[in-house]
Amino acid sequence: MQIPRLHPDTIEEVKHRADIVDVVSDYVVLRKRGKDFVGLCPFHNEKSPSFTVTPSKQMYYCFGCQAAGNGIKFLMELGKRQFTEVVLDLARRYQVPVKTLEPEQRQELQRQLSLREQLYQVLASTANFYQHALKTSPGEKAMEYLRESRQFKAETIEQFGLGYAPAGWETLYHYLVDNKHYPAQLLEQAGLIKSRKEGGGYYDVFRDRLMIPIRDTQGRVIAFGGRTLTDEQPKYLNSPETELFSKGKTLFAIDQAKDGISKLDQAVVVEGYFDAIALHAAGINNAVASLGTALSVEQVRLILRYTESKQLVLNFDADKAGTNATERAIGELTSLAYKGEVQLKILNIPDGKDADEYLRSHTTEDYQQLLTTAPLWLNWQIQQIIQNRNLKQATDFQQVTQQIVKLLKNIVNRDTLNYYISYCAEILSLGDTKLIPLRVENLLTQISPASVQTSIQRYSKQKPIKPNLSAVPTKRTLLELAEALLLQIYLHCPEQRQFISNELETRNLEFSLSHHRYLWRQISELTTNIDDLISSLQNRYLELGEDLELISHIFHLNEKNSKEILRTPQVIQTALACIEIALREKRCSHFLELWEKTDPETEPERFKSYYQAFYTEKQQIQELDKQRLFTITDLF
Ligand code: UTP
Ligand code: MN
Repeated sequence: MQIPRLHPDTIEEVKHRADIVDVVSDYVVLRKRGKDFVGLCPFHNEKSPSFTVTPSKQMYYCFGCQAAGNGIKFLMELGKRQFTEVVLDLARRYQVPVKTLEPEQRQELQRQLSLREQLYQVLASTANFYQHALKTSPGEKAMEYLRESRQFKAETIEQFGLGYAPAGWETLYHYLVDNKHYPAQLLEQAGLIKSRKEGGGYYDVFRDRLMIPIRDTQGRVIAFGGRTLTDEQPKYLNSPETELFSKGKTLFAIDQAKDGISKLDQAVVVEGYFDAIALHAAGINNAVASLGTALSVEQVRLILRYTESKQLVLNFDADKAGTNATERAIGELTSLAYKGEVQLKILNIPDGKDADEYLRSHTTEDYQQLLTTAPLWLNWQIQQIIQNRNLKQATDFQQVTQQIVKLLKNIVNRDTLNYYISYCAEILSLGDTKLIPLRVENLLTQISPASVQTSIQRYSKQKPIKPNLSAVPTKRTLLELAEALLLQIYLHCPEQRQFISNELETRNLEFSLSHHRYLWRQISELTTNIDDLISSLQNRYLELGEDLELISHIFHLNEKNSKEILRTPQVIQTALACIEIALREKRCSHFLELWEKTDPETEPERFKSYYQAFYTEKQQIQELDKQRLFTITDLF
């Protein structure tokens, strides 16, 4: 195939109009850094961005692999394409009139356009035809439908290039073949006409429908969706799969949304064409539609090209069909989501509405609020599992636990797994916090056979990692402070005494420091209700000839902590948490020691149970850590 030689003016004009940032952005997520833009280099594998685009020079350069050039070179290298091909492509995209060296070569050029190019052209002509028809009298009811039933402004109709396919059987056919001289075969390949089964000839695929052009990332029309204006089935008729259009690889409105997705660093995926259009009309311009199928990995990868933190909000209908679609979509994406390659959130609009319906009675801010509060997909799935279940019933409880275990089993990241184990343990404890450790342990045993086993094997091959308890030198002091504080509150706030004794007893806690333990014993022995507990204790110490030095600060409040004592509930909670953490850390190292001494071959059960005990303690420590509302040292 001989490629025509382009006129130098055309090449210059293309270079002038095709902005390099625009060109590169189709393939690389770019972030502004000073006067330049940076991103991950598409020419070599890298984890941190060294690919730089300089708009002022209209050049790119990669510090990693030294790839460099202008926008045309970029497209040539990336697509392994020839110079002229790329320039022609850019000329079309930026509407630069193409001049070849000899005018008669224009027709030759036309002939030589690849099939794909010809398909793009016929589809663009078709989109124009439909758009025009919408504004003529046969299109009136379609226009009315858009304006009245859908409440769309002229702007939105224009932005999405909405149109109308007239009702006749051969309207489009005649227009394109008779007037525009396109070959019928091309129209057929574009999915616009079909050959008649009998009698020869062709008929239009789309008749009397509201037409929605589907475009690729560069804004080229590649297919159509046509909505009936009557009750005809199907409600939406879509182009068949063609050379240009593959349903599972395309997202409706991606051309309109890609900038919004990069700016907001988040994409919203809805089910319907009109949901996406309505969102854009409301100013939420990072929305795409999945074309009514389950979202494929390919579609997700397409979106993720434009977001750096890989945030995706799935807003499918909340009805049964929508929930199923969501489940299917999640099913497709789980492997990505479990690996953390996509931050997936699920948005279900209240009352089972779709985005388009919702926006007719709510504001943009309302919708944005829904986006912000949408749960992460695992939380959503857990909600789905416990919905309409009565966890007080044995069978429900058992089934729910099993489903949760199945869900959590696949979590790869250890921290995420820990988080969800305690999250689910809390749900399964039904508000009885004392049950949480038991639930954690249960979940763990059920989830773990494989994972604990492997981590045990991993650990037993390497040297076990011992928690370094002495790593924090202030630990002892902190504990001492916590204990002293608790005793202080006990002595100075009589109304808290009952609560503190109860907590210590039920949580099985003891004071670690001997002088505190001694004081606590004295307190317990003065059982009778004594008005002035402090002076009685002091007398007792003197009587017994005990040293008061270590504890006298407990008897006296200074200015700062007398104020703090006003917040006693929080202080007690924090102090108790500190004491309990110290206790559990001791147990942790104890179990770890036992575990190290056990031979996994001869005593596998014991080996596992020590590990689990260790792990349970760790979980508890994490929980308690959250209860420490402030640092004890703040008080002194
Ligand atoms: P829905 O049936 O949920 O309809 O289809 P919708 O988007 O709310 O439509 P309106 O508001 O009644 O107009 C969701 C999407 O599924 C695809 C379309 O992409 C549609 O937007 N679909 C649906 C089809 O492709 N064919 C159909 O027959 C129905
Ligand atoms: Mn709808």
